[in-house]
Amino acid sequence: MADQDDITNATSAQLPEGFKVVGGRKFANNIKYLLPNDDDERDRLTQQHYVVRQLIHGNFNAPVEDFLEQGIRVLDAGCGNGLWLLDMAQDYPRSIFVGTDASAEGFPTSDVPPNCTFILADTLQGLPFQDSTFDYVFQRFMNGAFSPADWASAVKEFTRVAKSGAYLELFELSLQYKRTPPGPPRLRDANERITHPHSLACSHNVRQIARHRP
Ligand SMILES: C[S@@+](CC[C@H](N)C(=O)[O-])C[C@H]1O[C@@H](n2cnc3c(N)ncnc32)[C@H](O)[C@@H]1O
Repeated sequence: MADQDDITNATSAQLPEGFKVVGGRKFANNIKYLLPNDDDERDRLTQQHYVVRQLIHGNFNAPVEDFLEQGIRVLDAGCGNGLWLLDMAQDYPRSIFVGTDASAEGFPTSDVPPNCTFILADTLQGLPFQDSTFDYVFQRFMNGAFSPADWASAVKEFTRVAKSGAYLELFELSLQYKRTPPGPPRLRDANERITHPHSLACSHNVRQIARHRP
């Protein structure tokens, strides 16, 4: 894998197939996703993971602690560099954890606990799991990846792979301005589009937990 300096100096033609360079950052070109796919982005995800864990005093909000202790199947869709899964798999060794992402670039390759696996899969293309596979489906920070219609498809897919009575936790930051800042209108418009109310209620809340098919 190229390091950040190589990427900054690279042109898209010098990168492996499936990637492009925009403004000195590396992006995957096989998915509609706003953010880069490079070492700097993975460092940002790492910092974000630890900040969020500190802020919410743990890794999740769904009332699944007892089930996790007993042993359940958990999916983290769009898992990025997989830190949430590594933490969870270590904390709950009786449960089985599966991470999926449309890019395998960030998947950890060392110190992966035996109860944790990573699979390359684009949520919007359909997840490679049978119906009713998981007891707890988790997804975090996907506002930059899904249009309003994509959100609906993703939730439908999560509902399909979740068992009856499973928990679905969608964890997003609110990106909506409380006071619109000065700045380039294009940036404001882009933010408005991402945070449009149709992008599901979860876009407005720090967290949202939905229990489906009670
Ligand atoms: C902001 S990162 C969040 C990563 C992780 N959930 C976390 O909380 O650290 C978003 C991730 O979603 C992935 N992604 C974007 N579009 C996707 C899609 N359609 N299906 C699966 N993963 C996708 C990206 O590759 C990236 O790893």
